[in-house]
Amino acid sequence: MILDIKNIYTFAVLTMSDKGARGEREDTSGAYLQERLEAEGYVLQSYEVIPDQKQVIIDHLKALVDGMQVPLIVTTGGTGVSPSDVTPEAMSEVLEQEIPGMAEAMRSASLLKTPRAMLSRGKVGIRKGSLIINLPGSLKAVKENLDIVLPVLLHALEKIRGGTSDCGATTEC
Ligand code: MTE
Repeated sequence: MILDIKNIYTFAVLTMSDKGARGEREDTSGAYLQERLEAEGYVLQSYEVIPDQKQVIIDHLKALVDGMQVPLIVTTGGTGVSPSDVTPEAMSEVLEQEIPGMAEAMRSASLLKTPRAMLSRGKVGIRKGSLIINLPGSLKAVKENLDIVLPVLLHALEKIRGGTSDCGATTEC
């Protein structure tokens, strides 16, 4: 029997949106993330919509990692260049290690879709064994960016948590 170990990974969706947090905008991006990751076999542990406030974001990320020990946290929104976009600044205070390659892969692949991709400052990194991935806010951007990281997600989660699988064991590595 082949065990699908993806099922052991739970995830959190964290949407940064002032309007969403006030109930003035439907969170279609967060809902898509939940649906898509569940379809891939991951199990939802937390879903929150919070305002674009640096300390609020820091507190929520720390609670998800330090308190709830969620292995995978995917955020949407607040990565851009408007004055209210502070997700990357919050990440700088939360992450212990960055994974620049994942963030840059999303940006460079996204440039083939829109030049505006260069405006996202989203980060990807690790805190205490949890993987945190920032995606931009729009539903289109979430779909396009998630497509880029999904193929490496399981391998990344295994490696971050000390998995000893051989990276060269499959042709994908
Ligand atoms: N990346 C992809 N793949 N597709 C997109 O449509 N939109 C961009 C960019 N990244 C986009 C994208 C735009 S318009 C902005 S302003 C930035 O993400 C930042 O978005 P955010 O502030 O909602 O996080």
